[in-house]
Amino acid sequence: MRGKNIIIGISGGIAAYKTPQLVRLLKKRGANVKVILTEGGARFVSELALATVSGETVYRSLFPSTDQGNTDFINHISLGEWADAFVIAPATAHTLAKLSAGLCDDMLTTCFITLRPGKPVLLFPSMDGYMFISPSVQRNISTLAAQGCTIITPDKGELASGQSGVGRMPEPESILATLEKSLKRGSEASPLFGKSVVITAGPTREKIDGVRFISNYSSGKMGFAVARSAARRGANVTLIAGPVHLDTPQGVERCNVESASEMYAEAQRFFKSCDIFIGAAAVSDYRPAEPREGKMKKEMEQIELSLVKNIDILAEFGCQKTPEQLAIGFALETQFGLENARIKLTDKNLDLIAFNYFDRQTSGFEVDTNILTLIQRNGITKELPQLTKDAAAEELIETIERLLPGNRH
Ligand code: C5P
Repeated sequence: MRGKNIIIGISGGIAAYKTPQLVRLLKKRGANVKVILTEGGARFVSELALATVSGETVYRSLFPSTDQGNTDFINHISLGEWADAFVIAPATAHTLAKLSAGLCDDMLTTCFITLRPGKPVLLFPSMDGYMFISPSVQRNISTLAAQGCTIITPDKGELASGQSGVGRMPEPESILATLEKSLKRGSEASPLFGKSVVITAGPTREKIDGVRFISNYSSGKMGFAVARSAARRGANVTLIAGPVHLDTPQGVERCNVESASEMYAEAQRFFKSCDIFIGAAAVSDYRPAEPREGKMKKEMEQIELSLVKNIDILAEFGCQKTPEQLAIGFALETQFGLENARIKLTDKNLDLIAFNYFDRQTSGFEVDTNILTLIQRNGITKELPQLTKDAAAEELIETIERLLPGNRH
């Protein structure tokens, strides 16, 4: 942390009262800290307290006064250039909305736009639990995550609204630990730096005729979150995506496919060269044996569709891989979950499998959260709590980092 330039943004939530303590902790670690306070933030925490703990003028207005010959009109740009990391704690629903829309109507949001690419951006949403899970806030969070920001899920507990739920800003010590980790991760210190990572994501579509197909409910969100997390660590990520409605994560090479056969053809190109292959796609197990041309007519009362098995892409990679390459899979199970996941780990010759608990509300297809259990080849098993898919992806990638040759322990 010593010598690192950190911007701490504070927007208008009650948790702002904790942020001077974060500034103090950072200063103690030898970081240079500049604080940006929004109008709302200033209602909850004093500018004087922040100036005192940071030892710096607090940035408030985008338009500095011209008194006493002040001509520093480009603070928002110089701050963006100066920062090694940008943190907003607390980040209110309103600030998240402005950031996701690219609005620049105050010092904080304008500075966000001027940050240099690749620098860690950590946002700590803090608000009432129902506000946090509202579709608007979740949509803005997804947009910001797709841009490469790290969004830290708030803690669960008592909220200022008098209710209990998800919405509490983590304690300053925990924010400091997260920041330290992400500064390390953003640098060449990550064992994933420069590694070639191939990820399959989303569903596949298997044609029945010219206008119909067999598919599944996969949204691709988990695979895209994994791609984001690996790219943030400096990996060279190739994302082979089935038909999904998701933006390509920053710095990721994307290749769109439709059917399992197309996905296999693309994936195969990387089998020899990649360091890590992650099968996050929900690949259709079967495809119609003889897809028809044009649109089938509904002349018959009953038709029979003959299906043939698709190639198991991940198992193929598992079979061909060298001991230095890692094969990672997902196992979405509705019964005998852990047992089946362990069988797949062995059968497909994987190094790690993420057993995906499935209930369609908190975990599995389409939703924004997931409950994973990470099972390693050596039997080490880690049960994760319900997390956003981004947070679950971080946990998965951290485990993969430890499995890389030279880091195994
Ligand atoms: O056997 P099952 O489909 O449950 O295994 C799931 C894992 O295998 C996932 O990681 C998935 O991406 C991968 N898979 C694959 N090709 C298939 C079927 C599954 O890569 N045809």
